[in-house]
Amino acid sequence: SPKLGYEFIQVSEPRPGVGQVTLNRPKALNALSTPLITELNTALEALSSSPKIAAIVLTGSEKAFAAGADIKEMAPLTFSQAYTTSFIESWSKLTTAVKKPIIAAVSGHALGGGCELALMADILYCTEKANFGQPEIKLGTIPGAGGSQRLTRAVGKAKAMELILTGKSFSGVEAENWGVAARCYGSYEELMDAAIKTAETIAGYSKVAVQAAKEVVNKSQDLPLRDGVEYERRVFHSLFGSNDQKIGMKAFAEKKKAEWTHE
Ligand code: CAA
Repeated sequence: SPKLGYEFIQVSEPRPGVGQVTLNRPKALNALSTPLITELNTALEALSSSPKIAAIVLTGSEKAFAAGADIKEMAPLTFSQAYTTSFIESWSKLTTAVKKPIIAAVSGHALGGGCELALMADILYCTEKANFGQPEIKLGTIPGAGGSQRLTRAVGKAKAMELILTGKSFSGVEAENWGVAARCYGSYEELMDAAIKTAETIAGYSKVAVQAAKEVVNKSQDLPLRDGVEYERRVFHSLFGSNDQKIGMKAFAEKKKAEWTHE
């Protein structure tokens, strides 16, 4: 059931251990205004620090995940305002502040900042008809929430350059084929079922191991291979200090279900 207190988002717990944030500004197709982003960051940080929550689903509506930054809010901004407030920097807070996996479930439009927000998630699922793109060039500007970097890492320079210079959209089917999305689904209902099921699967594992797995995979996006492999090995070694590694391996040997202590 939706919790009260937010104007532009809804927060719920569709299954035990699974937090869901639903962007809910339907009249503007979930355009990502500053107040919406502030609420989103507050909600994600609360879910991240809640001991009851193990994984997070981030979604919009069937029609729009998010149609981008709020163009009407941005239109009058001056350089000095954008620069001194570090406009849009707070959008990527979820990539540093949230240690639990975030699954973006994308249906409908995921344009500009909406596409960039989806690309910040740890796992991206979408519908076949999802409409992704970086149309900023049409507005006389460029992606500002990491699109030129994350999309390029996801699809390679050739496709990213074409998409960002033309502003052309790509579908959910293409997103899956190009490795932007882990999977795409035929309907919104199937998408949401799958996203929540995946979150539930993750919520069934050791929180310590899950956090470490997310951390090391994300490091691969920042580090050269040799450093990344070494980083992984160090974190792998450190998990021998967890209870859950002992519990998981003992349960395997005894053919029992692991009862994690999350320690
Ligand atoms: N900002 C503010 N309002 C938006 C918006 C946005 N990004 N996207 C849609 N809206 C508003 C529309 O203005 C409209 O409001 P009104 O009813 O008050 O006129 C309402 O949402 C419904 O939109 P449409 O009538 O346009 O709906 P549609 O179904 O005909 O078209 C659409 C849908 C193709 C997504 C179209 O709305 C659109 O092109 N939106 C803008 C997409 C875009 O350019 N996004 C990039 C923004 S820049 C950015 O994100 C910068 C960055 O990198 C961070």
